[in-house]
Amino acid sequence: MRRSIILLVVVVVVIGLVWQGWAILHPASLPAQPVASVAATALLTAPIPDSAPNADAVRRGQYLARVGDCLSCHLAPGGQPFAGGYGLNTPFGVIYASNITPDRETGIGAWTADDFYRALHDGVGAGGEHLYPAFPYPWFERVSRADSDALYAYLRTVPAVHANPPANALPFPLNIRAAVMGWNLLFFKHTAFTPDPGQSAEWNRGAEIVTGLGHCSGCHSPTNQLGGVIASRDLQGATLDNYVAPDLTANPRTGLGAWSVDEVAEYLKSGRNDRANAGAAMADVITYSTSLLTDADRHAVAVYLKSLPASPDAGAEAPDAGAMQRGAAIYLDVCSACHLENGVGQPTIFPPLGRNSVVQQDDATGILRMILAGDRTGPAPGRPSPLTMPSFAWKLSDAEAADVATYIRNSWGNRGSAVSTDAAKSLRHRLGLDRPHLTANSGDHE
Ligand code: HEC
Ligand code: HEC
Ligand code: HEC
Repeated sequence: MRRSIILLVVVVVVIGLVWQGWAILHPASLPAQPVASVAATALLTAPIPDSAPNADAVRRGQYLARVGDCLSCHLAPGGQPFAGGYGLNTPFGVIYASNITPDRETGIGAWTADDFYRALHDGVGAGGEHLYPAFPYPWFERVSRADSDALYAYLRTVPAVHANPPANALPFPLNIRAAVMGWNLLFFKHTAFTPDPGQSAEWNRGAEIVTGLGHCSGCHSPTNQLGGVIASRDLQGATLDNYVAPDLTANPRTGLGAWSVDEVAEYLKSGRNDRANAGAAMADVITYSTSLLTDADRHAVAVYLKSLPASPDAGAEAPDAGAMQRGAAIYLDVCSACHLENGVGQPTIFPPLGRNSVVQQDDATGILRMILAGDRTGPAPGRPSPLTMPSFAWKLSDAEAADVATYIRNSWGNRGSAVSTDAAKSLRHRLGLDRPHLTANSGDHE
């Protein structure tokens, strides 16, 4: 038995490594982010009347569905809330989120509360099949039985939708769900949340959200080649699906070292503050999750994040003077209309680029993606209109995109490694932007 488990693990490791290589050569060509819709959040905030059956549990479950950000994944562009069908681009292929509405045939209408708890806690579906860890059960396993039952009660009240998600685009043998057993053996550990008595109640509440249902490390922590989180580098920033979820530790250059607790809380509430705007995948996290939490919970998350020790600083060499000069000219021509000449921007509208941690991440993929593909700040209650940054793939060559990225990474107090033309070229290819074409998001159409 032991030997066959070891064999299974070895097989999974080998397959994973092979697929990692394959995935780099064959980028998935999914559309960019779904457009976060404020309308879909209505279901997450609809008042539950006291007269509703099981009202307390349903209300609690509705709140937990916000904490767990269920809609970021269980809502496809143009689809119905909780009906799934949204494709997650993983290094191993595309995995589609399930329909978790109460439809009996295509959703989880026939599931019991036990089935539901087993899915969250063990990553196993109602038929005993293993679920892929693209579903964040490695974090959801910390949800208590009572909270799982509340989530279950809430999900039984949302409109049933009859819809099957598309089939996953996973290669053999990863399309065999038993392969997940090997992954679980290596990376999935049950670690119930135990409050730290040496910390405040608020800190513990923040820790519970960040390390549990909120699954922040699902994006913000670097993973090894098989997609397992590297525990020693928790929340130190990671690159996934061609964007960068930044360092959230106290590192003053790449992390939240310079942010106050209130600034973090404000960012989580409105998707913006005087330092940054929340774009890329964080836009959806803001819209479907953190903007809909209580002020107390956001503050608790901020207190916990601000207590994380600083990540080691990788530093960066001074960039080439020629690249800086060319980059400055491009910046003035193409970017300064919004971000202003000295990078100060217009806080909460056009983010300031000086001393900006997103701009200084060790991996420049995130800002290159913004420059080539554009970006959009997630809408939040009270801030319903999205702010968009146009895409410049049609306007800037690879060398120009690289130079302007190098320039903003090394101006106004910023320091970041130089960006190469090859990096821009390769990202442009991965994003399917090789052939420049004008789109609604194409900038000023000179
Ligand atoms: C990061 C994306 C993501 C988030 C966030 C997410 N899910 Fe999922 N979920 C998935 C994916 C992908 C699957 C399909 C996994 C598979 O097919 O193996 C899934 C599957 C499930 C299943 C199993 C359904 C079935 O038919 O087997 C349940 C139950 C579920 N999710 C509930 C939730 C709940 C409740 C939340 C919020 C608390 C949530 N999910 C948040 C991605 C996500
Ligand atoms: C689906 C992936 C994803 C998840 C889950 C996620 N984030 Fe993020 N986060 C990002 C990305 C990508 C950015 C960068 C946004 C940008 O560049 O505009 C970001 C940015 C941030 C920032 C701003 C950092 C900076 O330097 O500007 C904070 C703070 C943050 N996230 C907190 C959280 C917290 C707290 C959670 C959990 C409740 C969380 N994130 C969950 C992807 C994610
Ligand atoms: C039409 C106005 C506009 C122009 C022109 C523009 N941007 Fe932006 N930019 C924005 C907006 C709006 C955002 C916020 C989007 C988001 O949430 O990420 C943004 C975000 C950014 C960010 C992310 C900052 C953060 O804190 O997340 C970077 C980096 C950036 N822009 C660089 C540039 C560069 C380089 C250029 C020129 C090539 C440029 N921008 C041109 C409007 C603009």
